[in-house]
Amino acid sequence: MWTKNNIPDQSGKTIIVTGANAGIGYETALALYEAGAHVILTCRDQHKADETLNKITEHTGKGSLETGILDLSSLASVKQFAEGFLQTHQQLDVLISNAGVMIPPASKTTEGWELQFGVNFIGHFALTGLLYPLIKSTPNSRIVTVSSMAYVRGAINFDNLKSEKDYDAMREYGQSKLADIYLSLELQRRIEATGDNVLSIAAQPGANKTELSRHMDTDAFAAAVERVGGLMDPWQGALPSLYAAVEPEAKGGVLYGPDQDGGYRGYPAEAVLLPHALDEAVAKKLWDFAEEVTGVSFPA
Ligand SMILES: NC(=O)c1ccc[n+]([C@@H]2O[C@H](COP(=O)([O-])OP(=O)(O)OC[C@H]3O[C@@H](n4cnc5c(N)ncnc54)[C@H](OP(=O)(O)O)[C@@H]3O)[C@@H](O)[C@H]2O)c1
Repeated sequence: MWTKNNIPDQSGKTIIVTGANAGIGYETALALYEAGAHVILTCRDQHKADETLNKITEHTGKGSLETGILDLSSLASVKQFAEGFLQTHQQLDVLISNAGVMIPPASKTTEGWELQFGVNFIGHFALTGLLYPLIKSTPNSRIVTVSSMAYVRGAINFDNLKSEKDYDAMREYGQSKLADIYLSLELQRRIEATGDNVLSIAAQPGANKTELSRHMDTDAFAAAVERVGGLMDPWQGALPSLYAAVEPEAKGGVLYGPDQDGGYRGYPAEAVLLPHALDEAVAKKLWDFAEEVTGVSFPA
């Protein structure tokens, strides 16, 4: 089984983790810091970022830490973070697009997107594109996009991305996490067409005890836990992201997730993607749409 003991020395690597103050993002950042990376902890506010930095430095690590303020529900915030980062850094070895929100009460991003679609997909799409020039200029770089098994029930409803019609919290979560898979796979196809030395890899953490379920009511939460057979601790849920970020054998254009219980628990392995996630026509349509609405075009 692949664990964080398998992480090669990350000295000299610069790695961004979005949503680093909680759950899987925190454990991902901690493991990379322990392994020697320079980790940029992006959080929504400076207080959370400082607290996270202090908490991680209580552990013995070979790496170094830096904070960044990033609110993925605002394209202005995404642009401000990315522009600041590009001005102050000469390399970006790995971007881990981890931050996410699940089944909030109906709400929207600054630009009016349904919140989950906007944060989980649109914000990360823009972030990835804005940072891409630096990622591309860094040898053997990677982009890890964190999805979820919720992609299985997802579908992209191009007519309701701003909740123009109605809002179904779990349906929209599945849509956003399928969009993350499309982002990751379509990006890999486009990278291969350009010949850039970058891997785009999707990861999904299985079922874990984190704050992600904060909007679930108690009964629904208990039923969900029973359905998936129990929750893992977030250090274990971080392993697929870590595998995708650092394992020399990891491949672009695939999804890594836990290998047991239908992808909900276990240790990192390549997952079999369902046919709808491999639909290149929808992925291309979503990509073109995201480029148009964000004004961010890449990788060409
Ligand atoms: N936990 C699971 O079992 C599970 C299963 C499948 C997939 N996932 C995926 O794993 C990723 C991490 O989730 P988690 O379980 O660690 O959840 P979590 O404990 O709730 O952490 C989510 C992180 O995302 C950040 N975030 C939320 N909205 C944001 C925004 N608008 N801008 C920037 N950051 C924002 C949160 O910041 P704040 O603290 O400021 O809110 C937090 O740092 C998500 O993409 C999630 O979809 C988790």
